[in-house]
Amino acid sequence: MQAIKQHLHCLQCPHYFHQQSKTESMTEEIKSLWPELMWIQDPVLRETTAKTWEMALEKSVLTPDDLNKIPFTLLAGPDLKVSFMAHKRCVVHVARDAGNKMNEFFKDDLPVNMDILIAGAILADVGKLLEYELDANGKSFQGKYGKYLRHPFSGVSLAEQCGVPAAVCHIIATHAGEGDMVKRTTEAFVVHHADFMTFEPFRDRLK
Ligand SMILES: [Fe+2]
Repeated sequence: MQAIKQHLHCLQCPHYFHQQSKTESMTEEIKSLWPELMWIQDPVLRETTAKTWEMALEKSVLTPDDLNKIPFTLLAGPDLKVSFMAHKRCVVHVARDAGNKMNEFFKDDLPVNMDILIAGAILADVGKLLEYELDANGKSFQGKYGKYLRHPFSGVSLAEQCGVPAAVCHIIATHAGEGDMVKRTTEAFVVHHADFMTFEPFRDRLK
């Protein structure tokens, strides 16, 4: 009864429809930012993965527009043109292709759970939205929060609040160097390598 009363109260509130449309447009925003969400078969996992990105954007100083403009790493010099989203989406595509090939060739000898893999790849860097800040010229830098809690930690925090399962949080936690300290699942290995093989050549390839 209390819940119904609360719901009716919400409907009468002038801010309700504004808030509702804000939430809906945010969902549209996430959909256009991450078309790869549709690759996740489990609707609950797809929803919690999308929710985590929504929450990160709500808390971040960065907008989806910024994500399509800022460079994907701060460690590859000032001339890097590849955007944050271009790199993040590439990692998801590489991880998915790798997972499909592993399932095709190794079958039950090394099964890859594609839903867990894709959700983990989509969420691996979601914590960077809390790690980055923008200076007066719109250039991104690692803020104080990000120095204390790098994105594998903040990413797990966001994902857990949204109900993302532990197998996916494990991928977020272990995708970067911190993960070298623990045993990785197959899916976490794939995301880790997809991430690093598309980052290290930008940072220090032989020219
Ligand atoms: Fe990362």
